[in-house]
Amino acid sequence: AAERTLVLVKPDGVRRGLVGEVLRRIEAKGYTLVALDLRTADDDLLGAHYAEHEGKPFYAPLVEFMGSGPVAAVVVEGHRAIEGFRSLAGTTDPTTAAPGTIRGDLGRDWGLAVTQNLVHGSDSTESAAREIGLWFPELAPAAS
Ligand code: CMP
Repeated sequence: AAERTLVLVKPDGVRRGLVGEVLRRIEAKGYTLVALDLRTADDDLLGAHYAEHEGKPFYAPLVEFMGSGPVAAVVVEGHRAIEGFRSLAGTTDPTTAAPGTIRGDLGRDWGLAVTQNLVHGSDSTESAAREIGLWFPELAPAAS
């Protein structure tokens, strides 16, 4: 059964011109792009998206960073697409993410307060459904 995940190319990735590179890796892996939109997210959307991190020390700077410019929001589909994209992305800290991954090849810690790690990918079927509903309310729940 095909599975859907929400991928964001974060403002650092858009600023650096890496949208095409991220999409290329997703497509080269064999996943399908179902929806694609470049937009600057407002605080309501980001607050809902990052609700689980509210209260953490990095929450406010994270929301500010994520709203600092356009992000590329992408719905990606394929068998095991959620864990597949997380594997493509690499671990959260781009300095130590494995080479071969998006973060490991293209990212690093620039000494800024927020982890600017180029991409986001949903971490479970529940968060994928929730996040796709937030970013693309016009999409019906994924067929399974
Ligand atoms: P993301 O996958 O979008 O989910 C939460 C985000 O919070 C994460 O990527 C990072 O950008 C950020 N983040 C996670 N941990 C930290 C941290 N310790 N300090 C700063 N930012 C963090």
